[in-house]
Amino acid sequence: MEKETENLKKFMFETLGKDNSGHNHQHSLRVLCNAEEICKKEKCNNKIVIAAAILHDCADKKLFKNPDEQYQKIENLLIKNNFSKNEIEEILYIIKNISFNEGNFTKLENINAKIVRDADRLDAIGAIGIVRTIEFGCSKNRLFYSDANIKTVNNVNQFNVSDGSTLSHFYDKLLKLKDLMETKTAKKMADERHKLMEKFLKQFYNEIERKD
Ligand code: ADP
Ligand code: NI
Repeated sequence: MEKETENLKKFMFETLGKDNSGHNHQHSLRVLCNAEEICKKEKCNNKIVIAAAILHDCADKKLFKNPDEQYQKIENLLIKNNFSKNEIEEILYIIKNISFNEGNFTKLENINAKIVRDADRLDAIGAIGIVRTIEFGCSKNRLFYSDANIKTVNNVNQFNVSDGSTLSHFYDKLLKLKDLMETKTAKKMADERHKLMEKFLKQFYNEIERKD
């Protein structure tokens, strides 16, 4: 299993190592770490979870013009590494269904898929989530916030309405993720990360200090 895992990592590295959209190899390795942590506490198939976590972004349609070609490459890789037909089917199912775009709010019945999706979502929140969000916004040349969009209520600065700024992304998605975690273990792991984002936002408003 060790050698097979290394082969999957190598493929993932070659596939995503040059990505600059927040989905590089470091992201997949962090998702793997999160997934392994969740696996310790949940009843699941570790082999499936580990493989799917490593490969989860390797056929994302945001990243690849031809996702089907990527799925084919993944299937060949798994065959070469002695995964059974059923295992391959399940791993491909997970990769297809966990993306934020696709299966974001669809109910997953499969525990292995839930774990990989929770692990991916954990990497979008907390300190690393803040970093990725700011990096993403910068890559699109967006302001972090717009002046018009901060209003003061009872002397406290607050975000006003969703406006496509990077700050909006916290409200549009990141602060919702904690409640979307499906495994008990990920819910616990999300708690501290969620609190950090709330603390970050609170201090951010304090520091920009606009008293209208
Ligand atoms: P996924 O990991 O499911 O592919 P995305 O591609 O939506 O998710 O996000 C990749 C990273 O970029 C995440 O950390 C996400 O929070 C961040 N991101 C996505 N959209 C925005 C946005 N509009 N503003 C800031 N950050 C974003
Ligand atoms: Ni991901």
